[in-house]
Amino acid sequence: MPKIDSKWLLGLAVCGFAFAGTFASAEPQASHEHSAAHGEPVESNMHEFMEYYFEPAYKELRSEMASEPENNTGWKAIKAHSLVLAEGGNLLLMHKPYKSDDVKSWREHSVAVRKHGGELFAAAKKKDYAAARTAYEAMIGQCNQCHDGFHHGKPKLKP
Ligand code: HEC
Repeated sequence: MPKIDSKWLLGLAVCGFAFAGTFASAEPQASHEHSAAHGEPVESNMHEFMEYYFEPAYKELRSEMASEPENNTGWKAIKAHSLVLAEGGNLLLMHKPYKSDDVKSWREHSVAVRKHGGELFAAAKKKDYAAARTAYEAMIGQCNQCHDGFHHGKPKLKP
């Protein structure tokens, strides 16, 4: 019997695994499970969600944005908290409008917080305080607009 090169055998085994892997990942069941996964609120009570997700990041951000950061640590903190709030806009899209059927305006305010929060994040990456300030004030304006529309103007947040 001719001697079979062990390297050749190893190569064949590796190809075999790669081939099997391709099929395993394309299995209908696996892709079905993937499409069934979706975001859902951990805390569905809006008061609790605002108090424990939005409020702490807002309080930190407010003092960090009070004047131009002097060093990278200051900018890093702004990046962290603006990203939390911008992504918070996405999370609000998973919630029903608060005591209302006005899905349209609930979503508009949520998207606007995401947009201006994202602009603040981008400005902080460039360490551009003027742009950061503009985006920050625009974002807080949107927080307040939603509070105006859905909670009798409370709370009225100061930038
Ligand atoms: C899509 C609507 C919406 C947006 C956008 C929104 N909020 Fe709120 N927020 C609410 C509602 C509704 C309440 C009142 C909930 C309650 O007290 O039952 C509230 C309450 C609050 C409270 C008071 C929580 C407490 O303990 O009484 C804070 C603080 C707050 N929001 C911060 C923010 C910040 C900061 C932003 C923007 C980055 C923001 N919110 C954006 C809907 C929104």
